[in-house]
Formats: sequence, structure tokens, C-alpha cells
Amino acid sequence: MFPERFSNLPPYAFPRLRALLDAHAPGGDVTHMSIGEPKHAFPAWVGDVLAAHVAEFAKYPPNDGTPELQAAITDWIDRRYGVRLDTAQVMPLNGTREGLYNAGMALCPESKGGQRPAVLMPNPFYQVYAISAASVAAEPVFVNATRETGHLPDYESLPTEILNRTALCYICSPANPQGAVADEAYWKRLIALAERHDFQILADECYSELYRDTPPPGALQVAQAMGADPERVVIFHSLSKRSNLPGLRSGFVAGGPETMKRIRLLRAYAGTPLPLPIQRVSEKVWADEEHVIENRALYRRKFDMADRIFGNVPGYAPPQAGFFLWLPVEDGEQATLKLWQETGVRVLPGAYLSRDTDQGNPGKGYIRVALVAPEAQTEKGLMAIRDCLYGP
Ligand SMILES: Cc1ncc(COP(=O)(O)O)c(C=O)c1O
Repeated sequence: MFPERFSNLPPYAFPRLRALLDAHAPGGDVTHMSIGEPKHAFPAWVGDVLAAHVAEFAKYPPNDGTPELQAAITDWIDRRYGVRLDTAQVMPLNGTREGLYNAGMALCPESKGGQRPAVLMPNPFYQVYAISAASVAAEPVFVNATRETGHLPDYESLPTEILNRTALCYICSPANPQGAVADEAYWKRLIALAERHDFQILADECYSELYRDTPPPGALQVAQAMGADPERVVIFHSLSKRSNLPGLRSGFVAGGPETMKRIRLLRAYAGTPLPLPIQRVSEKVWADEEHVIENRALYRRKFDMADRIFGNVPGYAPPQAGFFLWLPVEDGEQATLKLWQETGVRVLPGAYLSRDTDQGNPGKGYIRVALVAPEAQTEKGLMAIRDCLYGP
């Protein structure tokens, strides 16, 4: 009576964390560092814009976004990446998660070369990638992203047999959880691989604005500079991290004309457009960089703080971007439980974000720590982690 396709999913990370920790008392004041919910302030004027447009809740919103929002997004892409897209090549989303999910629905073929299509994804990864693949009955291929591979997946190492039937490839840069950034050379190699084996790259770039000093290069700009097929790369961006508005549910997808035609069609039938007042706010937020610069400065201070506190820990990889630390430990679950029981700091075992593969589970020896809390609280939490797990 019910579908089998989701029956072997592991429990979702956060219920799993509750099951691990909640039977035990915290060993001190509780410090939440497990969930990546941005806590810095969003721009103060957001409320005024919303209030000015509140009457528009009375209208059905345009599915493809208002012309003003489309223009704000294409202008932002141009400023950030030097790529000028037609407004028909962007589409607002209720946050990137739904777009990343629905991309599989809109873009994954039923078969490739007469075979079951494969969908590549990094391991560890943002879990929606696997659910999207499962929903379209494609084979998810988990490619370990480890210290040895620079914390990004080495898709070139896959057997030709898999690459030939690959339809889609998810990649997250800056990466959640490791904070690794795909540089221009990485993008070039991946785009060339996709051109050779004719698959599309779904680039989850929702952490693109939270970097230390140098803006991470984007997939679209590299693809354009290479003269790649305009359908090759699809990018996903969000106001959740850039602008500390995870509850606004606002992001966008951008890609080639054919790709966007398919995404638009599916969304017209089955999607939920952003309410008009939310579209009005999003338009203003994409147009403003001042608050993003301030936000980035706050994260830079936290990165520096993390480097000071963990710099001597063997295997510590300073995050290049994003807002997570990916800390090496012997066993992620044991370390998480010990931290909770001894200090009250709540983190996430790395294996809750990764899958077992023939090459092992690359999350097992890690914990993920979110640097979202106010600075003083973050510092207290990080010191507690260091003293508890690595010694003072
Ligand atoms: C890697 C990654 N992609 C996508 C998302 C989805 O973000 P949103 O739907 O808020 O844009 C998140 C959120 O945590 C994430 O970490």
C-alpha cells in the first residue's frame, strides 16, 4: 500500500540526535551548536518592507516571480559573478531545499543510455540530494569527501560505467559540513567531466557569501568562461545564510533556458510560489550588500576564534567558508554524548550526515559544530569542546 522507495532511509539527523542525548542530563548550561540556523540579525528594514506590502497577501502571487524580483536576482548574479542572465533564466524558490529536491523531478531522465540513471552526491551531504534521487528512482552514488580529497568529492575517480549513466551531480560549495570551497580548477575539471559524460551539475551555493576574504568562485562563471553548454550548470542560492533570513523561505535557482523551462513548467503545476510580500522583501534584500558585508565580518571573527582555539588540534582543517566546523574525533557519536554529559554543549555526530560506502563512512570520525550563536556564547562553547575532547 505504501511506497518502498523511502523505507530504508536512516532516521533524520535531529530526531536521531534527540534519541542519542535526551535521555541524559546536560553537564552544564546548554549551548546549542548542532543546528545551522543563522542567529545574526537580519536587516532592520525587512519589517517595514513587509508591512508596506501586507495587502498583497490578498493576491495569488506570480509563479515565476515579479519582474522586479527577477531583475534583482539577475543583477545580483551579474555583480557577484560577472554573468548576465536573461530574467527567464532565474526562478525564485521557497528556500533552496525545495529547489534542490524538485530539480531531480524536473531534470532527471527516466533512463540514460538504456540504463537506470545515476545521481552523484558528496558524502557527507545535505540530505535532500538523496531524497530527490530516490523520488525519481535514480541510483544515488555517494562519493566520499575526505581530508585526502580536500573535503570535496573526487567525481573524476568514478568508474566510466557510472559516469556514462550519470544524469545529475550535486555539489555543495562552500560545503556543508566541511567548509571546503571548490576553486576554479575544481570547477573546470568537474564541468569538463560533465561535458564528456553529458550530465548536469546542480551547484548548491547557498553558503557562497559567508567566506573569509576571497569570494568563492561560482559554477556559473567558470562554465561561462569555459564556453560550456549553457544547460550544464544549475545554481541554487538562498537568503537564509547570506541575509540571516531562514524563516523567510527565499532563494533562487538559475540555469540554461531549456533547464529553466522544465523547472518552470513543473513549478507551475505543482509548486507553491512565494507570497507577494515575501517577493517584495526578497527583491530588496538581494539588492543590498551592506548587511552581507557586516554578516561576513561577524563570521570571520568566529573563524579566527576557531583557528585560535583548535589550531593545535591534529587534523583540524580551518573552514574556508560557511559556518560549520568539521572537527576530527575518534568516534562522532561518543564525542557528542561525552560533550553533552560533561559540558552541556550540543553538536551533531558527523555520521548523521553521511552514509556507509565500500570505502567506509567518512562522517564517523567527526562532529559538526555550528558557529551561529552570538560571539561570546560561541567562544564559550568552543573552549568547552576543546577542553573536553582535546584537553586544555
Ligand atoms: C548545504 C545546504 N543546502 C541547502 C540548504 C537549504 O537552505 P534553505 O532552504 O534555507 O535555502 C541548507 C540549509 O541548511 C544547507 O545546509
